[in-house]
Amino acid sequence: MKMYNHYVTTLLVYSVGLVFLIYFQDPIFSVFLMMVLATYQIIAYNYFKLTYIETSEKEKARLLYKLEQTEKATVEAATQFVSLSKIIDSGLLMIDEDEKIKQVNETFEAYFDTHDIVGETYDILIPFRGLYKAVNEAYIQEIKHRTQMQYKNKYYDINISPILEDKLYKGCLVVVHDITQLKTAETFQKQFTADVSHELKTPLSAIKGISELLSNNPNMSEEERKDFIQSMVRESSRLETILSDLLIISKMDRLDYELKIEETNIKVLVDEAMHLLEPLAKNKGLNIEVSVAEAMVSVDPTKFRQVIINLIKNAINYTDKGYIKVRGLIENGSYVIEVEDSGIGIAKEDFDKVFKRFYRVDEARSRASGGSGLGLSIIKNVVKKHDGKIELTSTLKKGSCFRIELPINPEKD
Ligand SMILES: Nc1ncnc2c1ncn2[C@@H]1O[C@H](COP(=O)(O)OP(=O)(O)O)[C@@H](O)[C@H]1O
Ligand SMILES: [Mg+2]
Repeated sequence: MKMYNHYVTTLLVYSVGLVFLIYFQDPIFSVFLMMVLATYQIIAYNYFKLTYIETSEKEKARLLYKLEQTEKATVEAATQFVSLSKIIDSGLLMIDEDEKIKQVNETFEAYFDTHDIVGETYDILIPFRGLYKAVNEAYIQEIKHRTQMQYKNKYYDINISPILEDKLYKGCLVVVHDITQLKTAETFQKQFTADVSHELKTPLSAIKGISELLSNNPNMSEEERKDFIQSMVRESSRLETILSDLLIISKMDRLDYELKIEETNIKVLVDEAMHLLEPLAKNKGLNIEVSVAEAMVSVDPTKFRQVIINLIKNAINYTDKGYIKVRGLIENGSYVIEVEDSGIGIAKEDFDKVFKRFYRVDEARSRASGGSGLGLSIIKNVVKKHDGKIELTSTLKKGSCFRIELPINPEKD
């Protein structure tokens, strides 16, 4: 009941009293009536006052409760923001309808090295040009916006979404992902595709050139013809080597690639490789020493045979005189394989590079040996997948030694 009800009732009661007074014209009755009315007035006033105070107290309590709920919701939203930002591992920044930064998470601050920016207007992002431009555009136009930016050698994907409440623009949420790895992989992939095309083009052009020469010169001497055909066979088999190595690489690059691990006698693998390659070494007049301890090691035998073949093949290819030594021994719980040669050696600055795809110290020599330039990168990859490591020591013109260490009983996942 509101206060004005009290006034209406009072007016009504007094009007009735007045009507009585005029009608009866009796002063005693009138005084009596006045007293009754005055008593009523006091009681009614107090009653209505009480009701009014009660009502306003209730209203106050209701408003307080509402305020409490709003505060609670705000705290909850802030807590949710923090928990969410931890789960998604991305930079998060919230800007309110007054252009002020309302929330920011640790990841965002780490990405851009910012501190205490909550409460500042988003102009504070001006030093991060790509970010500021995107946020400003999205904010002014109240739209979604997505872009990528580079900042201090890192690449970021920036995703801005408007925050709407009852269709009203209440600011925006900026989500930042570090996509450096993705970008690096993309650049690497592009470079790799370019390298592959280049690698395939060389033998293909040679084959094309030779076949044109052969068909345009029917009167070529038998000896010349034989030479050309031999070159063509050599280039074709190089093409075949490159393609089969590329196939190995693409298989190993797959995320679901798995080794077929078996308990394998390493000595048997080395013996098989030697059986295949010994004639090649003997042809070059190289001395061969093999001393490999028998041991059962958990490896993928097919992949590991290829590793040993590739290492010994390299030793033969890059050694003109002297020896090739293959050792296998158990050392501190690991199986160690060493392939040493007295060949051309590798300069220290090339130690890391020779394990990169298509890198060769001497292009011509590698091509002449029919190599794909992929051998060592495959070796390194296979060793890594076996939780092992490969090391190179070498001195130019004296020789090289490739050493592989393999855990004998790797911990199973
Ligand atoms: N035993 C070695 N002695 C000297 N250089 C080597 C030896 N093994 C590899 N290299 C160098 O490393 C490069 C990369 O080797 P690899 O990946 O097997 O490719 P490829 O042998 O097909 O050229 C070779 O081109 C060569 O320059
Ligand atoms: Mg090789």
